[in-house]
Order: sequence, then structure tokens, then C-alpha cells
Amino acid sequence: MKTVQVLDKSFSIYLSEEKILEQVKRVADEINRDLEGQDPIFMGILNGSFMFASDLYKDIVVDSQITFLKLASYEGTSSTGKIKRLIGINEDIKDKTVVVIEDIVDTGHTLENIIKQLNGYEPKSIKIVTLLFKPGAYQKDYPIDYTCFEIPNDFILGYGLDYDGYGRNLRDIYKIVE
Ligand code: IMP
Ligand code: MG
Repeated sequence: MKTVQVLDKSFSIYLSEEKILEQVKRVADEINRDLEGQDPIFMGILNGSFMFASDLYKDIVVDSQITFLKLASYEGTSSTGKIKRLIGINEDIKDKTVVVIEDIVDTGHTLENIIKQLNGYEPKSIKIVTLLFKPGAYQKDYPIDYTCFEIPNDFILGYGLDYDGYGRNLRDIYKIVE
């Protein structure tokens, strides 16, 4: 079995690049069908979604735009350290269909934070697409519109996802060996 060592942990192959790209194509086809004529703007959430967003967007054929956002910790004394500010919104998204591209939805705290901040810009609608979804860990009610894979509550990495900043370059997705 294909395994990798990243920092102090071992990971074994979980989803091959081929399997990933198959599901990415399936989801892109669904989005192409649903958002035809809506001129959506895709918003990839950095860092984790960069590889997924790139592959997904190559399969999107509807007229659309893409940009990338990042959640940044507040600096200075006003920070609670909990709510992170979404940076990089320069496009006017008022009355637009926004498609948030996430690498993984775990508890959903990050997603909720993103949705709340985007809502402040009064988009027409917000759709969520995620590469991975852990239904067993999800604590929110926001519908996840498009999911490539539902996975159990294991720690995974590769294909953009990291362990302490490492492992994002792996083409396949790996699961931690306990
Ligand atoms: P949430 O806010 O609990 O939904 O967590 C979302 C964020 O946690 C993701 O954007 C990832 O950065 C990170 N994360 C959650 N699960 C994993 C995992 O299994 N591997 C790597 N990162 C993860
Ligand atoms: Mg992330």
C-alpha cells in the first residue's frame, strides 16, 4: 500500500488522483447544468482549495469568473482571535450568484464564518461546493450544494490539504495511520 511520511505522521493512500478527478468532473457537470446563464463568480478559499479549484474550474463551461479569498486573523487589540476576516473581495458581488469553493467542510465553523461575511455584500445567492465533507463532524445547517466525497472523521491530507503546512503537493489524498 502506498504510504507517505509527513513530519511525524504516516499516511496511507485513500483517494487516488484518478478517482478525485472523476468526482471533480461529475460536480463540475452538475454546476454547469444548474448555473447556466447565471454568470456566477467562483470564490476559492485559500490555501486548501487551490488545487481543487484549479481542476474544477477547468471543467466549468458556463460564462463565469473566479477569484480567491483568504481567512486572515485580525491583528491588534480588537481581535478576539476567533472570528477570522475574509480578505480579497474586490469584485462587486452584490446581486451575483457566488460559488464558494472549499477543500473540506469539517465542523462547518469556517464555512459559517465565510457565509456570514459574504452575506454582508448582498449576493443574489451563495452556493457551496466542497471537495470533502465530514457529515459526522458537521455542526451547522447550511446545505452543502455540491460534494465530491463524503468521508469519515479521519484526518486526511494531499491534493491541497495540509498537515501543519506540509503535504499539499501530493496528487492523491491520504488518510492518517493511527
Ligand atoms: P471546520 O471549520 O471545522 O469545518 O474546518 C475546516 C478547516 O479545517 C478546513 O478548511 C481545513 O483547513 C481544516 N481541516 C479539517 N479537517 C481536515 C483534515 O482532515 N485534513 C486537513 N485539514 C483539515
Ligand atoms: Mg482550509
